[in-house]
Amino acid sequence: EKGGYDHFMLKEIFEQAKVVKDTLMPRLPENQNRVVLDEIKLSKDELDNINKIYIVACGTAYYAGLVGKYLIERITRVPVVAEVASEFRYRDPVIDENTLMIVISQSGETADTLAALRLAKQRGARVLGVVNVVGSSIAREADDILYTWAGPEIAVASTKAYSAQLAAMYLLTCHIALELGKMTEDEFVSLRDELYQLPRKVNRVLSKAEKIKRLADKYVHSKNVFYVGRGLDYMVSMEGSLKLKEIAYVHSEPYAAGELKHGPIALIEDATLVIGIVTQEDLYEKTVSNLKEIKARDGKVLAIAVKGNTEIEKVVDDVIYIPQTHWMFTSLLANIPQQLFAYYVSTALGHDVDKPRNLAKSVTVE
Ligand code: M6R
Repeated sequence: EKGGYDHFMLKEIFEQAKVVKDTLMPRLPENQNRVVLDEIKLSKDELDNINKIYIVACGTAYYAGLVGKYLIERITRVPVVAEVASEFRYRDPVIDENTLMIVISQSGETADTLAALRLAKQRGARVLGVVNVVGSSIAREADDILYTWAGPEIAVASTKAYSAQLAAMYLLTCHIALELGKMTEDEFVSLRDELYQLPRKVNRVLSKAEKIKRLADKYVHSKNVFYVGRGLDYMVSMEGSLKLKEIAYVHSEPYAAGELKHGPIALIEDATLVIGIVTQEDLYEKTVSNLKEIKARDGKVLAIAVKGNTEIEKVVDDVIYIPQTHWMFTSLLANIPQQLFAYYVSTALGHDVDKPRNLAKSVTVE
């Protein structure tokens, strides 16, 4: 049932082109210049009245939500707050009928996420669930549901579900922006063309697995790892850091690259590994100057950058390239090397990658 792979996690990582395709394509038919989300009943009028969006989830689903927050807010100009469910539910958040609440969950059973959904509904918010498991509690209780078609995810560490959640965030961003008149049909069609290319590009990143395994072997004895980026790259770095912690048991921290000099750079010493994500052109120079500061302190930098950027090779120790795509969609591609890196570090250290210690697949207790 592992389909020839050593672990479910690796199998699920390699299913991602299909998962992205299955989540995107039925919603992006070529003969209609809109996102077809017929399962969502939220009307244009209702969207017009929304003055705030919350995105609430836990763990990896929350990190997908952060990407959603960044994109939806930046493109639609509607304020979006992303928050972990275990905080949101206990702090008496400001919610009313003009709030759109988006909850994201692979299992659809996470206790805190479900409680946050119920709280939002009680206060009159409209709740949209982005869920993977059909018929799960969150799927049943949300007003609207956008399924991620990732299929069953067995490994405790979430991989393909995150990619499907990102795909769902891309769809929602385009959908809300079109409905609110913040994106033209022409802009949408060109973004859609990019989305059509994504599954193929996912496979191009996956084809680098051997190289990533070699890098994992090179850095396997790192005791502290920092993941840094700016903007969307910072959101992606959080997911990369979580993966390394939970399956390889290696201490790691994600940081907004600009925050390093406000404290954490004190921890950079000889051979400290920093994974630098640099896919956003408008922030590129800024992040690179932070990476240079790390090199000046004898840190090791492994960069995840966009193909064609050979300049970065002069600054860092190693580079993994992802194919070029629109800036909005780099997160999905840039995360895949992080998944493989964590996987290969974990297996090299001899850990049970599919069932990491202390963790359950679905957190149904508070
Ligand atoms: O089923 P959910 O998406 O609601 O689960 C949320 C988190 O428990 C989950 O993403 C967790 O962080 C995983 N261990 C991540 O790999």
